[in-house]
Amino acid sequence: MMQNRKGKLIVFEGIDGSGKSTQIKNIAHQLEHDGFKVITTAEPTTNPIGKTIRQIFSGKLEGDQHVIATLFAADRLDHIFHSEYGMLHLLDKGYIILCDRYYLSSLAYHSVHVPYKWVLQLNTVAMQTLKPDMHIFIDISPDESMQRIHHRNDQKELYETLENLQAVYHLYQHIVVDFKDTENIVVVDGTASKESVFDTILNHIKSIISS
Ligand code: ADP
Ligand code: TYD
Repeated sequence: MMQNRKGKLIVFEGIDGSGKSTQIKNIAHQLEHDGFKVITTAEPTTNPIGKTIRQIFSGKLEGDQHVIATLFAADRLDHIFHSEYGMLHLLDKGYIILCDRYYLSSLAYHSVHVPYKWVLQLNTVAMQTLKPDMHIFIDISPDESMQRIHHRNDQKELYETLENLQAVYHLYQHIVVDFKDTENIVVVDGTASKESVFDTILNHIKSIISS
């Protein structure tokens, strides 16, 4: 399953509040300290298509669920192919990319509203062009997610209701099983302490960057 690239793409997945941004920040810091070239990034991106998605999420623009799913697929292709910030380009330069969400998020979040197979089709080019070296699924329950989101105390986003989180979580669990032979997915217990989750993730990443 190892890819023939100079850099590595490591994707973090999980429901909202699972600890992705906390871990990405700390892991990036550690890897930089260890002498690696690291870039952190996220989807939706901060590029033009990603900005449009955020405007829909904040209610400034209207977007049907089909439109949202399609915009995410387009934002992702831009995130892959762009000549400056595109991940293919950065991998060629030897960066370790830590990415907050990628195509598995699309499968989990959009299939609650529109057919799974259609979302899969929308993401075919991304899946065939740039498969991550590793997906790290940080596993917390929807109840835990709701509690953390409340504590975080920021604006609740479009998807952050318990019912929706349960549906997304259920889909993620299926996805982890469905893709176990074709994608390198590791599941990490996200209810452990931040330090313990960090150690587990770092060990997984070290196993592919020192090889
Ligand atoms: P995400 O990026 O996946 O939405 P965050 O990293 O923003 O998640 O974490 C959501 C909230 O949960 C933050 O307040 C964070 O401090 C807290 N948190 C993160 N990891 C843990 C953990 N292992 N145990 C308890 N709380 C955590
Ligand atoms: P954001 O606040 O950036 O991230 P997080 O909640 O993980 O800290 O919100 C991203 C939201 O976008 C999140 O609810 C999941 C959703 N999403 C999709 O619906 N489809 C996708 O393809 C991706 C990448 C994210």
